[in-house]
Amino acid sequence: MSSAIIEVEHVTKRVRDSTGELTILHDISFTLEPRESVAIVGASGSGKSTLLGIIAGLDTPTSGTVKLAGHDLFALDEDARARVRAEKIGFVFQSFQLMGNLTALENVMLPLELQGRGDARRAATEMLARVGLGARLHHYPRLLSGGEQQRVALARAFVVQPAVLLADEPTGSLDFATGEKVMELMFDLNRERGTTLVLVTHDRAIAQRCDRQIRIEAGRIAPATIAA
Ligand SMILES: Nc1ncnc2c1ncn2[C@@H]1O[C@H](COP(=O)(O)OP(=O)(O)OP(=O)(O)O)[C@@H](O)[C@H]1O
Ligand SMILES: [Mg+2]
Repeated sequence: MSSAIIEVEHVTKRVRDSTGELTILHDISFTLEPRESVAIVGASGSGKSTLLGIIAGLDTPTSGTVKLAGHDLFALDEDARARVRAEKIGFVFQSFQLMGNLTALENVMLPLELQGRGDARRAATEMLARVGLGARLHHYPRLLSGGEQQRVALARAFVVQPAVLLADEPTGSLDFATGEKVMELMFDLNRERGTTLVLVTHDRAIAQRCDRQIRIEAGRIAPATIAA
């Protein structure tokens, strides 16, 4: 059996709109071993977020397969896929996607409660303190700045200590110092827990800290970047 934590094989994504068919991703293949960190880089509109959503099982490919810790994601039904996702993945969306009717603390507690963790409040409070939001626990997302919302989203993804952290521009809305702190947190997770990191980023410093970089150009992997 393969030791890979993520195996992406021949993933293609096509969508149909009023102007016809558009290929967003074209025959993408790569594998990641546990503990690896990879930066997915490329121009705006090249397909990075689409790829991340497919790796997370949140979006479906038109063809191709994704295996996560040996589970063939798109061979599973919706419920089974959601279970694998909840168990293995932390996901930070480009648009944060916090629950507007829950406070910062409740947003971060949610994935822990879904796992039946008894210490959800304590663990969520600690994680929010680690991202510098110890004084914003009871704020609703609409009362938080963009960078604060991003940090709540990061805390929610980190708090379950997932095997795989998928993050879409995790420092995109943060000032330099806060971005550095968040980056340290991600690489601490990677080092201490062996968390596999898949980071979409335009930040060259983050990309260079990763073991590998995969460059996407118009939906394809640029050939020079696939090598480890
Ligand atoms: N459901 C859809 N229908 C039509 N076009 C789509 C759809 N989803 C994505 N696209 C298009 O696919 C392309 C890739 O989008 P994607 O969000 O993956 O880019 P990205 O690399 O993450 O860009 P950015 O760096 O700006 O976040 C874009 O041109 C986008 O308009
Ligand atoms: Mg994007």
